[in-house]
Amino acid sequence: MSEAAGRPLRVLGFAGSLRQGSYNRALLRAAQAAAPDGMTLESFDLAAVPLYNGDVEAAGDPEGVAAFKAAIRAADGVLMVTPEYNHGVPGVMKNAVDWASRPPQGAALAGKPVGIIGASPGITGSARGQSQLRQAFEFTNSFCMPQPELLVFKAHEKFDAEGGLTDEPTRQFLTRYLLALAAWIRRFATA
Ligand SMILES: Cc1cc2nc3c(=O)[nH]c(=O)nc-3n(C[C@H](O)[C@H](O)[C@H](O)COP(=O)(O)O)c2cc1C
Repeated sequence: MSEAAGRPLRVLGFAGSLRQGSYNRALLRAAQAAAPDGMTLESFDLAAVPLYNGDVEAAGDPEGVAAFKAAIRAADGVLMVTPEYNHGVPGVMKNAVDWASRPPQGAALAGKPVGIIGASPGITGSARGQSQLRQAFEFTNSFCMPQPELLVFKAHEKFDAEGGLTDEPTRQFLTRYLLALAAWIRRFATA
């Protein structure tokens, strides 16, 4: 049995959108509210993470990057909430993953269990963005939960003007998703 079995799981969530009215940021807040007993879900704002630049990295991680990597390291698992841009992963999310994949030996994301969810006003609910994001974890050697998938489609119909999740089926599925993620993370938690 892992040591984490006796204490709350620490999960770090971040959304791949910087805009205040973001459906994905709203989905992350809804996930925080729906986190099951035995799981704490903290959020990290990717606005603090600058564009990846190898020269900057060579001089030392900027403060926001160092904080981001430290938050991932301190977590038992990660929840990424991604929009879909042009059938792929938005730069904000991919940039964050790129920083957290460095250095390749001992990267913050290496060996980390990961869940991916996302929202879009379209009918595919960020499906292609999520699929593309998964590919990155082949290289980072992270353990991305295969199922279930949470695709919040027609997101504009499921959140109110304040970003509150109003769709009860989505909330119920989100709760089931988080329970599955907790079980997934416990498979890998060691400390
Ligand atoms: C550059 C750009 C490309 C987009 N491409 C897609 C897309 O391929 N599929 C999709 O479902 N929505 C697409 N959208 C719409 C986004 O899903 C929508 O703007 C969404 O609200 C973004 O997520 P957010 O609300 O978390 O900021 C695109 C939006 C932008 C700005």
